[in-house]
Amino acid sequence: MTGHEITDPFVERLREAVRSGDVAVLTEKIKRDLEDFIPEEGLTFPERFRRALPGGYARRLLYDDRELDFTAVVMTWGPGQRTALHDHSGIWCVEGVVEGEMEVSRYELLEEREDGLCRFALREEARARAGSAGALIPPFEHHVLANPSTDRIALTLHVYGGTMDHCTVFEPAGEHLYRKQQKALVYSE
Ligand SMILES: [Fe+2]
Repeated sequence: MTGHEITDPFVERLREAVRSGDVAVLTEKIKRDLEDFIPEEGLTFPERFRRALPGGYARRLLYDDRELDFTAVVMTWGPGQRTALHDHSGIWCVEGVVEGEMEVSRYELLEEREDGLCRFALREEARARAGSAGALIPPFEHHVLANPSTDRIALTLHVYGGTMDHCTVFEPAGEHLYRKQQKALVYSE
């Protein structure tokens, strides 16, 4: 367990939430915890977490709770950086914006065709400001995240019910159609 880089009261709140067991309940608690802590305590991260990388958004492990099996990951988004449409491998997640603003596009998987292509519908597009958080609970776990700013970085904090070491990404392959591909997820420097 590596907890030294994050404020202990916050970790204690996360642990307490995860112990409640029920996914709908614990994700709601964590969402409230993130919304409480982000503006008030001003969750401060070591400087290395603020460094954007040129090739794409950075993901860095902040906290790994082996006992309760959850992780907290900080992502750093340079201007314009974004994810592909992706899933969360069936893992629940709560995501909070710590700094800047994010564009969140939620999709619903409508069909997996025999030819391997998936059909999605865009269900919601929203801007999420610093201090706001949202939960993803499978099977509603498909989205695109982007930093829409042209000159500012954005920082987000993601709490996962496990270790996200892979996911499925969906690359555009026609109108509303996407080709799925496994992607290994690694932590950045
Ligand atoms: Fe995601």
